[in-house]
Amino acid sequence: MQIIDQQIYLEEVKVSELAAIYGTPTYVYEENRIRDNFRRALRAFKKYYPDFRFFYAIKANNNLAIANILRQEGAGIDAASVNEILLAQKIGLGGEDVMFSGNFLSDDDIRQGLQSGVIFNLDDPGLLPRVLKFGQPELLSFRVNPGYGQCEVGDFVCNAGPDAKFGVHPDQVMDAYRRAKEAGVKRFGAHMMPGSCIRDPDYFRFITELVMDIIGKAARELQINFEFVDLGGGLGIPYKPGDYTLDIDKAAELVAAAFRSKIAEYGLRPPRLMMEPARYFVGDAGYIIGTVHAIKDSYKRIIGTDVSMNTLARPAMYGAYHHIYVNGREDEPRQPLGLCGQVCENTDFWVRERPLPQGISEGDLIVVENAGAYGYAMSYQYNGRLRPAEVLVNGKQHYLIRSRENIDDLVRNVTVPEHLLN
Ligand code: LLP
Repeated sequence: MQIIDQQIYLEEVKVSELAAIYGTPTYVYEENRIRDNFRRALRAFKKYYPDFRFFYAIKANNNLAIANILRQEGAGIDAASVNEILLAQKIGLGGEDVMFSGNFLSDDDIRQGLQSGVIFNLDDPGLLPRVLKFGQPELLSFRVNPGYGQCEVGDFVCNAGPDAKFGVHPDQVMDAYRRAKEAGVKRFGAHMMPGSCIRDPDYFRFITELVMDIIGKAARELQINFEFVDLGGGLGIPYKPGDYTLDIDKAAELVAAAFRSKIAEYGLRPPRLMMEPARYFVGDAGYIIGTVHAIKDSYKRIIGTDVSMNTLARPAMYGAYHHIYVNGREDEPRQPLGLCGQVCENTDFWVRERPLPQGISEGDLIVVENAGAYGYAMSYQYNGRLRPAEVLVNGKQHYLIRSRENIDDLVRNVTVPEHLLN
């Protein structure tokens, strides 16, 4: 994003032009920003540990245009469901380019997961006999819950630790791999996902040591090789202006040093190191362009926009912060104002009080920052509000990558029984 003469540009395209062409609200992604983010991170980790690979957690943004950018850069896909495996296949990725980390799987999930030949990452040893009923995975991994989780997303609950629904308890890990080995599984990996949006490099060292101590003992005692260790996602981005950024080079250096030292301590054959971030690649490359439609002066002044809780769920769901720019007014003096969407719920009053340009008026365009991850992917149709359009920008070029929904999308799967039609 850049601001020239008070006009906001995404890459080299004016948001006013994008709004005129595509309407609002619209998600816009900067292709070069995604590529830069990916390359910066890959360069850092490969520098300290060359046998390294990223799998993109497609749940954060499943637009196939975005996933293709990351595929071109060399990422595999982390799939949270069978449908995400199918999405990966739509961009030509399958087999060991895809990691399947579902949880509380149905028999159908297991059957389809096995058929697709992806890397199976089991959330519980109890799933193993059910998996074996349908076939033998070639390469099997368990998701370890190392007993510790951390998260910097508002009130979002952590993905690991005693209160999380995910992963295998450290005391059960040895037995899980033992049973898999006894069942004839030959190739093993290990996985965890203890945190999201972390900007402290030392956290990544800490979790590396945690998981390596758990699986190192299993490798030694069971005489198995781990082909890979996947540290999950979690590479964080700053959401508030002035917040510090993650020192990615430091994180990579600390992780690689901890990884190597634990490899030596447990006498392991060096596994491939993997991570499966999403936010770091796409989070700050995405924006929502919205329009101010109405301004009300009641108990307080509230700016009403078409960026509602159904467009961007994170503020209402987690109390998450998203910075807002107002096109044409960034140089104006500020005044504390509220800002909301158009949904009939007071949680849609998603900015209670924030210094916004004091001249903000009906018809102005707002640009909501850091909306590339868990933005569109978590949008919904409540109040009959439709999901927005998605646009990709690259230099001066712009491409519609998902159309705005229309009324047909609201009734797509609905059938009204005959007797209700008279
Ligand atoms: N791998 C697994 C198994 C995950 O569950 C997740 C995210 C990731 C990777 C990617 O994590 P990241 O690098 O983006 O931190 N909806 C919340 C975040 C939920 C994270 C869920 N798991 C938000 O809007 O901030």
